[in-house]
Amino acid sequence: PAPGWSINADVVVVGSGVAGLTAALRCEAAGLKTVVVTKARLDDGSTRWAQGGVAAALGEGDTPEQHLDDTLVAGAGLCDEEAVRILVTEGPDAVRRLIATGAHFDESEEGALELTREGGHHRRRIAHAGGDATGAEISRALVEAARARGVRTIENALVLDLLTDGDGRTAGVSLHVMGEGQHDGVGAVHAPAVVLATGGMGQVFSATTNPSVSTGDGVALALRAGAEVSDLEFVQFHPTVLFLGPDAEGQQPLVSEAVRGEGAHLVDADGVRFMVGQHELAELAPRDIVAKGILRRMLEQDAEHMFLDARHFGADMWEHRFPTILAACRAHGIDPVTDPIPIAPAAHYASGGVRTDSRGRTTVPGLYACGEVACTGVHGANRLASNSLLEGLVYAERIAADITAAHAANGLHARVPEPVEHPEVPAHPLLAPEARFAIQRIMTGGAGVLRSADSLAQAADELQRLHTEARDALDENGKTAEPGVDTWESTNLLCVARVLVAAARLREETRGCHWREDHAERDDTAWRRHIVVRLNPDRT
Ligand code: SIN
Repeated sequence: PAPGWSINADVVVVGSGVAGLTAALRCEAAGLKTVVVTKARLDDGSTRWAQGGVAAALGEGDTPEQHLDDTLVAGAGLCDEEAVRILVTEGPDAVRRLIATGAHFDESEEGALELTREGGHHRRRIAHAGGDATGAEISRALVEAARARGVRTIENALVLDLLTDGDGRTAGVSLHVMGEGQHDGVGAVHAPAVVLATGGMGQVFSATTNPSVSTGDGVALALRAGAEVSDLEFVQFHPTVLFLGPDAEGQQPLVSEAVRGEGAHLVDADGVRFMVGQHELAELAPRDIVAKGILRRMLEQDAEHMFLDARHFGADMWEHRFPTILAACRAHGIDPVTDPIPIAPAAHYASGGVRTDSRGRTTVPGLYACGEVACTGVHGANRLASNSLLEGLVYAERIAADITAAHAANGLHARVPEPVEHPEVPAHPLLAPEARFAIQRIMTGGAGVLRSADSLAQAADELQRLHTEARDALDENGKTAEPGVDTWESTNLLCVARVLVAAARLREETRGCHWREDHAERDDTAWRRHIVVRLNPDRT
């Protein structure tokens, strides 16, 4: 159906995590009419779940140059050095501005920021809040600031597609809003600038640290809009996720890298510290190396999980430094004060996403992306721990500056182009909600931590079958699943899963968080390059 209602704005921001709300607050402060649309409630995205913290060269003796070096090493040869330089040099001030916005970070008695370590960092440079509840505090501060400054928000709004004008420029978004009174049903926000800040796609796998809303919506929308997407094969698996059984599905409790940063050990069932000797940083090696070390040991010992042992912290430290993790473990019958914590790797972060330049611009004029949905080039083949909140802050501010400058050049309240193209809903065959679980099983089996040509080929075939069945039902009798959040989420998951698998099949090497059993070595001759995908809009 064509949109039943529409509103006009200068900027529409899709998503309300650290990246979306930072972009919105800066645009609003510059006098732009800004609308934030978000799929659930304002604080339902991934930001709220972040534990470890925000990495920035804020400590005595630390420098952006050292942060740059650690980021480049973790990125395994595929970071865009200029993008990283922007991140690490603008990062410290971006964190200070976040504090000025109202976020309270943990401080020593003397009032200095407390900094911890995580994998891949040679220094203590991770600022944290509430011990291990950094994301929750950032989310609280940004949501409160957005409310206090009157940023217009539409919650429970699933964005369907990008609207474009006759010249292929961004003209807004179509969206389906549920139960929000004045703006209910399918509608449109017309705006010459759209900022995608929709977060990640962890729900493409069975077990993930991501909340249920992380279904790759922004990447799928960008692909349908003809934007370039890069590095989707680099899915980061967090090494230490609480192991709740081999069949656990959906969001799983994270056990932050900061626990290792404060001295916890990874051990096998015999109590052996298996990371020692594998890397000079042992348990604090970059995340991909630790995840591989854990999985190798699991395979060698035919074990379902390994253990994180931090009993030596004692009850006081657990209660004060890691209250969130302590509560999550105890809720599942494990007491980290007296027991080693069972852990295994689970899907955590999409290092790739919608390709942008250093101002957050995608390849579609007027469409921007920041945060996990984006591929700015800072993460390369494997994101350095706690660089994600920082990236959201820094690049959101750059986007707001670019949009503000464009508006100033065009007259602040630029003409809102009338979109000429209202995508039909469904423009693509919609999948039934249950397809989500089939996609997760296929991806976990074929495109998880350890991949091979055979496993990926099987995943590609099974995903193709899901797509063909949905398309045939549409072609033959016009039947498609009932439009709704669940069906669009399944459809978006399938879209991103297919591209992810295609990229993973193409990359015949092991690099960063892409681990191929059949191509076990990094191949700098053939593969020190990116896989960039742009869908032909005439084919689905
Ligand atoms: C963690 O606390 O281990 C997560 C940090 C991150 O994903 O960067």
